Amino acid sequence: MSQSPIIKIKNVNKSFPNKKTSTQVLNEVSLEINRGETISILGESGCGKSTLLNIIGGFEKADEGQVILDGKIVSRPTRKCIMLFQNYGLFPWKSALKNVELGLEGSDLTAKERRERALHYLNVVGLEGKGELFPHEVSGGMKQRVAIARALALQPEMILMDEPFAALDTFNRYHLQDELLRIQAKEKTTIALVTHDIDEAIYLSDRIFIMHANPGRIHKEINIQLSKPRDRSHSDFQHYRKLIFEEFHFNREHSPIEFHI
Ligand SMILES: Nc1ncnc2c1ncn2[C@@H]1O[C@H](COP(=O)(O)OP(=O)(O)O)[C@@H](O)[C@H]1O
Ligand SMILES: [Mg+2]
Repeated sequence: MSQSPIIKIKNVNKSFPNKKTSTQVLNEVSLEINRGETISILGESGCGKSTLLNIIGGFEKADEGQVILDGKIVSRPTRKCIMLFQNYGLFPWKSALKNVELGLEGSDLTAKERRERALHYLNVVGLEGKGELFPHEVSGGMKQRVAIARALALQPEMILMDEPFAALDTFNRYHLQDELLRIQAKEKTTIALVTHDIDEAIYLSDRIFIMHANPGRIHKEINIQLSKPRDRSHSDFQHYRKLIFEEFHFNREHSPIEFHI
């Protein structure tokens, strides 16, 4: 992996107005993500993870600070940086193949090239021969694969994932996490993942940015120096779990029982 940043997030501040005043959601958030890297933004619910990801993707504007992707300031969503949502965002009346093709409309590709590209990425996510199925005919895990294929087909510089596996059961989640590792190793896409799942963050990430809340800020960066694929039951993995758990626990006045993430 090269160490050149593909994206730089610089001193981002963001507040949302509420009834009388406004609440600061992000405070001086700065981080850089290297090309080909997978990073996680880990924090409890409401700490500003989605807001930060939305700002990185150009869906939301920072009050102050900048996001610079490939040397250019991000001011709106682009095809270079694609967001993958937890609820898949598929069109129910379109087949898997059509859903992937649809993302390519408006590109320079011909209809034949769009079809070929869509088929290729359905294969990449393990859905060879499944292109004619409709979203209601497939499991949540398969829907998310279609969504990943649609994102990959655009050949973006970067994919943003907002708790992409949170709606899946444990087995499907583990399976999809493995798929994501395999795909990322092949495609070398840069991935920024938001999660409240400590194990998921350790399993997938090269680096984890721990966010604390009120206002949302980067508390700590942790390098996960374990080769992939990782063994969740290994003591090295447990070491990072403990380290991260303590980061949150130390931030609390109450017992770990009251630790909501
Ligand atoms: N569009 C919005 N308008 C007002 N408040 C918002 C908006 N989006 C998020 N918030 C608030 O900002 C805080 C952070 O939200 P969010 O980024 O969704 O957190 P997370 O993804 O970490 O759960 C929450 O208190 C939420 O209620
Ligand atoms: Mg969120």
